[in-house]
Amino acid sequence: MRDLDPIVERALAAFRAADDAPALENAKALFLGKTGELTALLKSLGGLDPEARKTAGAAINAAKTVLEQALEARRADLADARLQARLAEEALDVTLPGRGRGVGGIHPVIRTWQRIEEIFHSIGFSVADGPEIETDWCNFTALNNPENHPARSMQDTFYVDLKDAAGRNLLLRTHTSPMQVRYARQHPPPIKVIAPGRTYRVDSDATHSPMFHQVEGLWIAEDVSFADLKGVYTDFLRRFFETDALQVRFRPSFFPFTEPSAEIDMQFAQGPWKGRWLEISGAGQVHPTVVRNFGLDPERYLGFAFGSGLERLTMLRYGIDDLRLFFDGDLRFLRQFAT
Ligand code: PHE
Repeated sequence: MRDLDPIVERALAAFRAADDAPALENAKALFLGKTGELTALLKSLGGLDPEARKTAGAAINAAKTVLEQALEARRADLADARLQARLAEEALDVTLPGRGRGVGGIHPVIRTWQRIEEIFHSIGFSVADGPEIETDWCNFTALNNPENHPARSMQDTFYVDLKDAAGRNLLLRTHTSPMQVRYARQHPPPIKVIAPGRTYRVDSDATHSPMFHQVEGLWIAEDVSFADLKGVYTDFLRRFFETDALQVRFRPSFFPFTEPSAEIDMQFAQGPWKGRWLEISGAGQVHPTVVRNFGLDPERYLGFAFGSGLERLTMLRYGIDDLRLFFDGDLRFLRQFAT
């Protein structure tokens, strides 16, 4: 058959030229499909005499087999090429360094928080936690700080535009002292508790941050004296700073919720702050009005409270001179505390 060879050649060329599966299937249809060239040739056999039809038929079928094999081979090649392309695209370079997950560390202020809990726990204090969004009543009024009293403005804060279920005004607590009220109203004496946590004030400079941490201490019973406060707090400082070579003094001060009130100062016998009195905490004997707000009889129950800044304690312990370092999130600073 004269016509056969050129058809086979064109078909083979078309298969080779097809560079993806759809193009190859189109090429197949042109030659082997229902209206394809080879199929048309087969159909034309009807016009030949039986002998010629037999030879031509055999030749066409042989050509068809050749094309089908070529088609199969090309299909396999294309599939293989696709696989290779995908493998190349998704290749892993096993020599690259791993990404790792990074190891977190405890923030120095939180380290202080944990140490304080450990130390006070070991001398019989419970640890309590309370809300950062406080009622005006717990934060001020119950602490003998009535509305319009000038002492309120010592602690300006962030007011919240909502009221609680009882219709009371809400604010971000300016100190941890409201925890005295919350805890004492729920636990019968003797009360011996610390309450560390976040506090807020409208203040921002090298020594003040609008968010900072305090720890409140409260010990109420029938026979707790100022001497106990001095003993407990001095003991705490010695353990916290890991040295007995420090002195503690009480300086008269004012807080509406304590009477008498004191600032606790300390002095190291060694190190960068040697010989300087450093303010470390507010403290005092809980005011009778506040004891009454605890729901207790101030004639029977008395005791002391203190409120200390965690940032301050941390700065003194590690020799840090700018409070803002705690909140910048600079890893060069923070890594020094991650062990
Ligand atoms: N709440 C006081 C402050 O934030 C500190 C304090 C606590 C003083 C308990 C006395 C007793 O400044």
